[in-house]
Amino acid sequence: MAGSARLCVTNQKGGVGKTTVAINLAGALNERGQNVLFVDLDPQGNATEGLGLLEAYDAEPPTLLDALVDPTSVTAEELVYDHPEMDVIASNVDMNAAHSVLVEQDDAEMQLDALLSSLEAARGYDFVVVDCPPQLGLITDNALCATEQLVIPALAESTSKRSLELLFDYTGSLEMDHDVQIEPIALVANRVEHTNQADQMLEWFDEALPDVPLFEIRKRVALQRAFEAGSSVFAVEEEVDMQAEFTTMAETIETRVTTRDREVPA
Ligand SMILES: Nc1ncnc2c1ncn2[C@@H]1O[C@H](COP(=O)(O)OP(=O)(O)O)[C@@H](O)[C@H]1O
Ligand SMILES: [Mg+2]
Repeated sequence: MAGSARLCVTNQKGGVGKTTVAINLAGALNERGQNVLFVDLDPQGNATEGLGLLEAYDAEPPTLLDALVDPTSVTAEELVYDHPEMDVIASNVDMNAAHSVLVEQDDAEMQLDALLSSLEAARGYDFVVVDCPPQLGLITDNALCATEQLVIPALAESTSKRSLELLFDYTGSLEMDHDVQIEPIALVANRVEHTNQADQMLEWFDEALPDVPLFEIRKRVALQRAFEAGSSVFAVEEEVDMQAEFTTMAETIETRVTTRDREVPA
């Protein structure tokens, strides 16, 4: 059984555009005919809100947390919400307890991997896009280990250097503890305005990660309007110039992702 191509959108720094990039990249992949499952792993549920599924955030169990604790205990029908552009596993207020509950599990970092394998077997997705919380720790470990392929949004400012260094140190140590190989597959300079500092940082990104394609998303209120409308920029009436960059990102990612055959949990 072929698995899906999995990605996580990650950077432990808050407010850099993870959720915005995750929703719009998923929208672009859908626009290109890919069958997408979106997973909101952030206990704050911003992506859940930005996909118009706020009621799911307060839904009664079984929720994403139950599914992470026992990946075979919850069915796709119970867990997956419909959205016009993609299937969605919503976050839930229960996810605030995820760290303390997951830490009790034997293979605590690999629970999302098992959950995705069983959903992929049931539903046959082309892509899984996971939106990460703004910190490193057990929840993010699950995203990193389940997907192994990182889309990294970063602001074009000098603090991003340290965030990226921290992130790569962290993924390096996860690789030593688990049977995973974690690679960046796209870097997204976000909220770019062409100042001197931003131009210098774009150069730094290119030099620091020469093999990783770099995309530039400008500062645009239209991205916030789409969020408020509950969709990506591909599903709004308004023409948004950043659609083109998200489409190029989706095309590039399609050619660079690897899809691993994975074991389906019994
Ligand atoms: N390119 C952009 N242009 C304008 N606003 C943006 C852009 N990217 C993100 N934002 C806004 O910045 C805030 C933080 O973005 P978000 O995607 O939630 O970041 P994160 O998920 O990393 O915390 C949100 O209010 C979002 O609407
Ligand atoms: Mg977010």
